[in-house]
Parts: sequence; structure tokens; C-alpha cells
Amino acid sequence: MLKNFIPEGVADLNYDEYEKIQSIENSLVKVFSDSGYRQIQTPTFEYFDLFASESVSAGTEDMYKIMDANGKMMVLRPDATIPIARMIATTHKRNDGEIKLMYVTNVYRSADFRAGERREFKQAGIEYFGTCSPETDANVIETAIKALSAAGFSDLKTELGDSNYFSGLLDELEKDGKITLKEQTTHLRELIETKNVPAIQMFADDNGIEGKSREVLLALPVLFGDMDDVITRATELALNDKMREAIENVKAIKEVMGDSIEISVDMGLVNRLEYYSGMIFKVYLKNTGVIVGSGGRYDQLMTKFGRDIPAVGFGLNVNTLFDALGADASDSQVLNIALGKGRLADTTVKQLQSIGIEFPDYSKESRKLFFTDSTGKFRIIFVKAVDVGIYVEKGACDVGVIGKDTLLESGSDVFEMLDLGFGKCKFAVAAPDGFKYDKTKKLRVATKYPNVAKQYFAKMGRSIEIIKINGSVELAPLIGLSDVIVDIVETGTTLKENGLSVVEEIADISARFIVNRASLKTKEKQVAEIMEALRERNQQ
Ligand code: PRP
Repeated sequence: MLKNFIPEGVADLNYDEYEKIQSIENSLVKVFSDSGYRQIQTPTFEYFDLFASESVSAGTEDMYKIMDANGKMMVLRPDATIPIARMIATTHKRNDGEIKLMYVTNVYRSADFRAGERREFKQAGIEYFGTCSPETDANVIETAIKALSAAGFSDLKTELGDSNYFSGLLDELEKDGKITLKEQTTHLRELIETKNVPAIQMFADDNGIEGKSREVLLALPVLFGDMDDVITRATELALNDKMREAIENVKAIKEVMGDSIEISVDMGLVNRLEYYSGMIFKVYLKNTGVIVGSGGRYDQLMTKFGRDIPAVGFGLNVNTLFDALGADASDSQVLNIALGKGRLADTTVKQLQSIGIEFPDYSKESRKLFFTDSTGKFRIIFVKAVDVGIYVEKGACDVGVIGKDTLLESGSDVFEMLDLGFGKCKFAVAAPDGFKYDKTKKLRVATKYPNVAKQYFAKMGRSIEIIKINGSVELAPLIGLSDVIVDIVETGTTLKENGLSVVEEIADISARFIVNRASLKTKEKQVAEIMEALRERNQQ
């Protein structure tokens, strides 16, 4: 019987769904078209080489690759903008002037199925070539907002930044010899993009970044909020003309737009893709933890194709819009805090109480899974510890407290804003006392953390076999299931009592305060209130 033959990460659409998606698409296309954009289409298959350069595209490992009959590597279009840039680079004539294009196209990337992501999704957007001015940038943002409103989204928040602010800081770090390698730049860009504050601190320590540069670097992840406040602070921090020009550009764009759109600023906004070269923006749907659109200026991408043509654009994920239309907006007044049942949760509740957030009904013995604080502003939600990341990533909870071990393992796409300093332990490789590593054999590793173990041994260039188990991992090497274990070690008692010892330390672990990408901006006051109080408390 041929049943259930649908791959993960793709979906059939029934006629109801299809018609709804079509109606969203039609609304978007109408606004784009009324704004002077003309529709184009690029092929589904592209040469891998087009996307292979790191500076053009992120994550070649996420692309679907196919070998053609001539042995040439092809990919299914993993991005909408790069093929359009290629098309314009090869067809644009010197006197063509401005070109305004729009597209609705499927994009293919490998996805995190655990998080319900799709490997095929529909993207709609515009690309505006041949002009560079605050007016053009403002116009592109306004078109995005108009299109989203036409598709039924009115409760939006737009955020503006300029990638040259971060790029100006990079210039200083390079000039001072603090950054010498391309990999360091890529790593730092990723840390800023994910607002990974503890890791940024570590980066500054490891690379001897001190003084004003350090101050700017550590300020970047929180350099967002009301326009006037952020601009004042960013101006105080600016280290060179590039950074000052970035601020001026943001101010100029905002001035063109006036008060028609609710705009805030994030000067720490960067994109994983390096080709962004100026204005960047994101649009959030209030109260849902969803980013509905993003875009920016990418003049540098055109220079990769050997052409000096300014370009700006944005993309909207039509499937995300479809899901968001049906989603119930959460209660905007309450900040939902995900806590993993167990050790970290107890300490977190105590810490929250010590900063004045009381949960009168809470008791450790209760089987109830959520409690609201006495002010009605905060709600703690008890989930399984391994699920904290996914609840926050998907916006079901706005913030969460999670062990770095679980966060590393899940790879959740969230902002890691604070090292809470408790729940300290280590990731380690442990083995029975007297264990000798036999290089001629594949090492058998039992663990609750297969991703962490895989990454660690891959980095070490050692070939291993992973045996995933769910608890009491220490038993595995004792009864011959594995040679070693990868696990967390807190006091070391469990290892000691079972005749095992640490043979290699992998990483330090502690509890982290994580924040949903959209909630940081749409519930910024509540997030800041709790985050600042916890930060101060843990610094004492
Ligand atoms: C964790 C870990 C170790 C133990 C380490 O297990 O997997 O077994 O704690 O702590 P120690 O160094 O202080 O002895 P957990 O208590 O979560 O139980 P589990 O093994 O059933 O997952």
C-alpha cells in the first residue's frame, strides 16, 4: 500500500490552503506592481559555483545539490536575490538606469524538521537596482509595509539599522591587529547576529580587545530601541567616519519616512550574509514572536559580479505569512518565560523572587505547568528542559532559561543574551579508569548529546560511532556498550562512584538567559526589565 509517502519538510496544500496562500501572494504582487515593480523569474536549477563563495552565500552545506549529466554540480535555488543579481549583472546596460523587479519564487534549503521548518518555501520580494539614496531605501521599506498591510498584517513593528556600523568597528579591530583572519570576522559577525553576549565577551577576552573598541563591541547586542536614545548612544560610541555615516544614513531614512510607520533602531543589526552594505531592516509581527520580512542594501553583491550597480531589496516568506495569519496573537501584556523542569528551574524561580518577581501560587511540588506573577506581567511555563530552546525559538515563549549544554545540543535559533552564572558544570569525555585510546579502532561514544559529541570529535579529526542514550550514560562503557561517554560533569560524584574519570574537557557550561528574536524587539520593555535585573543580581 502506498501511504505516507511525503518527505519531511514539504507539504501538500489542499484547495483551502492553496487559495489562502494565493490570496496573500496576489495582495503582495498587486502592491509591488502598483509601486512600479515588474515580475521576473529565474531558473530552479543554478550552478553550485554561483553560491559557493562564502562572501556571497551562507551555508553551502544547507543547499540541495544535484550532479548534471556533464558532472557539473547544480543546486536547487537556495536564495532568491543572488540569481536576480546574476541576471542583472549580465544583462544590465550602462544606460539602463533604474530597474525595479519583483519575484514570487520557491526557495530550497535543508531545514530543522524538529522545529517544523520547511525545505521548500515560497518567497516574495522586490529588488531595486541602479540607485542609492535614503529616499530609495525609505521607499523600499514603505513598499514592504504596504504589501504586508494589504496581505492582512497591520500590527507591525519595523526596525532599521545599517551594516556599516558593525563594519566600521571591524575596520578598527583589523587596524589594531585584533582581527587578522577571515574566520574571525565571520565568527564575530555570527555572534553579533545572534546577540550571543557571553560568547562576544569571550571573543573580546581571547583577542585582547580593550578600551573603546571593547565597549562598542559589548554594547552592540543591546544598541536597539527608541530612535533618539539609540542614535545618541551610537554617536557616543562611534569610532570612525564609517560608523558615523551609518548613523547619518539611518537618520536620513527615518526623516524621509516621517511618522507614517512605527520605526525603532538597532545599530547591532547585521546579516549573516556579508554582502549587505548599508541599510538593513526587519519587520516584526507584534505579539507573535514572528519576523515577517527583512531586507537591505547590497551594493557589494553586484561588485562580486564585476558590476558597479547599487541594489536594495527585501524578501517575505509567504509560508510564514500564511502561518502567522492563522496564529492567535499571544497576550501582549504577559512575558512568557520557559523553564526546564528540574534543577535550573528552582534556582531561576528563586532568582526571580529575589528581583521582586513573585509567584504566590508556585510550589515545587505542584503539578501545575504555569504560574503568573503577582503583577500579572510575567508567566513562568514549565517544559521539559530539552524543549526550552524550541519553545523560545518558535515564539511560544518569549524568553527562557536553559543550560548551555542543552542549548548547544539543540542549536536553537535564539538570542543568547546572558550567562546567569549558576548551574555550572563541564562537558567532558569520560572513560573507565585506566582507559587507553586505541587509534586503530573507531571510538564508540555513548551520550545524551550526539550533536555536541559529533562536532567535538569532528573538530579533533577523530572518527567515532555515536550511541545515543537518554540517561544514566555512565553505565554504557562499564557494560561494554561504548568505549567512552560525552556527558556533563557537575560535582564528579557520578563518575567517581562508577569508576570513571574525565579524559578530556570539552566546554564550560552554565545557565543561559535566551530570548526569542522577535520578542526582544516587540516586548522590549518587559524583556529589558527582567534581563537587566538578572544581570545586576548576578554581577553582585
Ligand atoms: C547528569 C549527568 C551526570 C550527572 C553529573 O545526569 O548526565 O550523570 O548529572 O553530575 P555529578 O557530576 O554532580 O555527579 P542527571 O542527573 O541529569 O540524570 P540522567 O543521567 O538520568 O540524565
